[in-house]
Amino acid sequence: MSRAVTAFPADPPPQAVPRTVLGIETSCDETAAAVVRLPPGGAVEILSSIVLSQTADHAPYGGVVPEIAARAHVESIDAIVGRALADAGVKPAALDAIAATAGPGLVGGVMVGLSFGKAMALALGKPLIAVNHLEGHAVSARLTAEVPYPFLLLLVSGGHCQLLEVAGIGACRRLGSTIDDAAGEAFDKIGGALGLSYPAGPALERLAAGGDPARFPLPRALAGRAGCDFSFSGLKTAAARLAAGLTDDAGRRDLAAAVQGAIARQLAERTGRAMAIYDAAHGGRDRRLVAAGGVAANGAVRAALATLASARGFAFAVPPLKYCTDNAAMIALAGAERLAAGLTDGLDVAARPRWPLDEAAALARPTHVPGRKGAKA
Ligand code: KG4
Ligand code: ZN
Repeated sequence: MSRAVTAFPADPPPQAVPRTVLGIETSCDETAAAVVRLPPGGAVEILSSIVLSQTADHAPYGGVVPEIAARAHVESIDAIVGRALADAGVKPAALDAIAATAGPGLVGGVMVGLSFGKAMALALGKPLIAVNHLEGHAVSARLTAEVPYPFLLLLVSGGHCQLLEVAGIGACRRLGSTIDDAAGEAFDKIGGALGLSYPAGPALERLAAGGDPARFPLPRALAGRAGCDFSFSGLKTAAARLAAGLTDDAGRRDLAAAVQGAIARQLAERTGRAMAIYDAAHGGRDRRLVAAGGVAANGAVRAALATLASARGFAFAVPPLKYCTDNAAMIALAGAERLAAGLTDGLDVAARPRWPLDEAAALARPTHVPGRKGAKA
């Protein structure tokens, strides 16, 4: 059956049998594979989850080098998938489907994982599911907690910063998006200006621990402005300028704390506005907020969102740290939910460097100029 993107049921229909799905993730700088089991009506079982980070390969360059990433995926995909199956104690023939990230991301890397998934699906005679990496993040909180659809999602990663209403698998409505940089990009670039190595988010969080967030006043982009879009480029420029003038460690700690506070504050303020839009659409029911993506691993961000959620009467779910950052368990779960809903893909499905979750909104209201690869987010 070919892919359709609208009008799916709010929750996967009941299944007669558990679905055991292999997930493959190669869209950026982690080669990852996982096996997830989705029992009918029961809790998700993560049978294995292997993540091989390429951070050390890219560190000398201060960012991810696409050719190095693609080559590193080619070199390790075989072993990583083998280990995921072995750790799970699942023979390939026992799988119900193969799910692989088909975008968005660095296309050379995406092609490695997707081609590997296609080859396995063809050889085993199993269905292939081409998963949107962002949909993986969207379901990631469902890996370890009961989070029914619908919910409000704050998706904050290295390349994306969006608020979405998630009505079900394959049914996302974009409420807001960054008009310039993603929050993770701001953490990485400002961290770089503070002398931290890429990806700088976790290191900036550690540096901020002893700092005084009040010492450096930073711009508050879009504060109080209608809608729930984000902007981080003004903060990035101001913080990079301040970082260049710093000579002492105490100053670096204070600036890191101020930056982290400013990012957490903006994320919470804009999410608060999205809650009002979500409430209007749901008559005040189904009040659930989910945060996902690498930046949701940040303690200050989690705390700001937890405070907001409790003040507004929303339940709050955020995955454990290892499922916030890129992993294949979330891809396997998105695949299992798609399989349960009857959504599989042909072997001719293409890798997509750009693939917005809400394609209609991305085309109608682009927040970035759509390039020749299509709308960005
Ligand atoms: O979701 P992810 O692993 O990959 C993408 O799909 O982009 O997110 C990576 C991003 C990076 O920008 C990284 O610096 C940021 O998440 N990140 C953090 C933390 N852990 C990861 N940012 C702030 N604090 C953290 N603890
Ligand atoms: Zn990601």
